[in-house]
Amino acid sequence: MDLIDKVVVVTGGGSGIGAAMAVTATEAGARHVVVADRDGDAAASVADAIGGTATTIDVRDEEAIVELVRSTESAHGGIDLFCSNAGFVTQAGVEESDEVLQAMWDVHVMSHIHAARAVLPSMIDRGEGYLLNTASAAGLLTQIGSLGYTITKHAAVALAEWLSITHHHQGIRVSVLCPQAVRTNITANSPDVRVSNAAADDPLGVPLADGVVEADAVARLCVEAIAAERFWVLPHPEVADYVKQKSDDIDRWLAGMRRYQARLYGDRPLPGDRLVSGS
Ligand SMILES: NC(=O)c1ccc[n+]([C@@H]2O[C@H](COP(=O)([O-])OP(=O)(O)OC[C@H]3O[C@@H](n4cnc5c(N)ncnc54)[C@H](O)[C@@H]3O)[C@@H](O)[C@H]2O)c1
Repeated sequence: MDLIDKVVVVTGGGSGIGAAMAVTATEAGARHVVVADRDGDAAASVADAIGGTATTIDVRDEEAIVELVRSTESAHGGIDLFCSNAGFVTQAGVEESDEVLQAMWDVHVMSHIHAARAVLPSMIDRGEGYLLNTASAAGLLTQIGSLGYTITKHAAVALAEWLSITHHHQGIRVSVLCPQAVRTNITANSPDVRVSNAAADDPLGVPLADGVVEADAVARLCVEAIAAERFWVLPHPEVADYVKQKSDDIDRWLAGMRRYQARLYGDRPLPGDRLVSGS
């Protein structure tokens, strides 16, 4: 699908990848872009820059997503592309509170379901529509040090696969964005104090495996993938090789990931060491 004259909604559009997606969709010819974010000022500043509309919304609230879809459809016509993108990170394992794990599930998985539930009926009526769901390379591989991020992003990938299989014959197309590190405000915007002071390109004080990409390059790749109706959007192409290595020999892949984790942490305690009494 090309974006010329299309109506686009982006959640988490006030910052980072979502903001870049709103700008890039506008440059690609979108008729109207709705920028939705729980940070209303950030959403307004992106929307003002592109002549779009800003909405303050917490994506954990299904009623708010229903209203976002309803008001967009009534003001601008059917939504052609819904980018379900809001997200945050944590740095914890099984010791993480149920409250934070539930919040992650709600933002990274339920919000995608609620968006699909709200927007699919009218897309299916029209016989066309596109869902771009932001997951992460962590949804195909793992996120070292973050149980919650890993499991919810895996669920986000599985959900996108399911939507693609189930609704393709009704004209619905789905892509899932799975980057490694992207230079954004995600660490500062995430509530977990253990990562709030980390630099986006160096969260553990060591360089990341395949480098940090810029959000506008990620957004341009999303627009290309949507034009080509390609399911995976992989700003770090190495990720496809890692998925292959994982499926070819899971025990070898797990051993390699353990070695990588040990290298990343160096002298610091490994994530699992937080469970040791007295640490
Ligand atoms: N930055 C990376 O390295 C990276 C890598 C892989 C995947 N991702 C994913 O990309 C997506 C965008 O993240 P980003 O890196 O651009 O971060 P960001 O913090 O720059 O932008 C995320 C935006 O989402 C908003 N948001 C968070 N929770 C929300 C909620 N409950 N309701 C409404 N808005 C909410 C924030 O206010 C923020 O404006 C996330 O899903 C993230 O998991 C990021």
